[in-house]
Amino acid sequence: MKRVRRRLIAGNWKMNAGARDAGPLALAVARAAEGMDRVDVVVAPPLVAIAAVADVLEAAGSNVRVAGQNMSDQPKGAFTGEVSGEMLRAWGATWVILGHSERRQLLGETDLLVARKTAAAMTTGPRPIVCVGETLAEREAGSTLDVVERQLRAVMGALASQPGFAAVAYEPVWAIGTGKVASPEEAEDVHARIRELLATASTELAERTCLLYGGSVNGDNAAALLAQPDIDGALGGGASLDPASFGAILAAAQRSSAGDA
Ligand code: PGA
Repeated sequence: MKRVRRRLIAGNWKMNAGARDAGPLALAVARAAEGMDRVDVVVAPPLVAIAAVADVLEAAGSNVRVAGQNMSDQPKGAFTGEVSGEMLRAWGATWVILGHSERRQLLGETDLLVARKTAAAMTTGPRPIVCVGETLAEREAGSTLDVVERQLRAVMGALASQPGFAAVAYEPVWAIGTGKVASPEEAEDVHARIRELLATASTELAERTCLLYGGSVNGDNAAALLAQPDIDGALGGGASLDPASFGAILAAAQRSSAGDA
């Protein structure tokens, strides 16, 4: 079946590659992304490096886009340590990762807060990549789909306000940084369910929302994941810090996109 969504590969650098390393890494990614004309490529450096990375990529004439790793749900004001969507955009970020499991688990972000941030991003930008996913205990208890459904329902109204503006990343927490990637079938089961849920808001939302898989993606497993009908792209962590590895994921996406039309 024809896939209407473009492939999207995003790299989440997390708290790595700050000011000094960010420029060279961004340039290496730009080189790896050359010629990948059927893939949208995004890197998410730490906050302090966003402006520098955006500048380096622009100067190199690269199509690689920049993302924040988080943003405030508020537009401005007395919120010490926070950064708004407008501020991220002014620095050159066109995307922002929201609700990453590390923020949900380690920093106490609730579904409600992620929903508020998503609503803010849908209004002011940057374009959100909203992360959902179950923990190992939740998977073992058989509640994977319930957890993902709860997390998705919280943001669905916001996503439906502009179909295709946001992407959703399914990242099983047990697969993040562990080397234990979900099997293509396990991932597809959840992706298909996410698309079904999006369809309850509108067919357009389901068809236009890019769904990414994240959790130990690398150059070896990307192709099989991207071959699944509802997996449109990937959100990589560890692999995104290694241009060769990230480049291999991009190449897999470019190859899979050949079969999309
Ligand atoms: P990983 O991280 O690729 O290192 O597992 C993915 C993520 O946290 O987005």
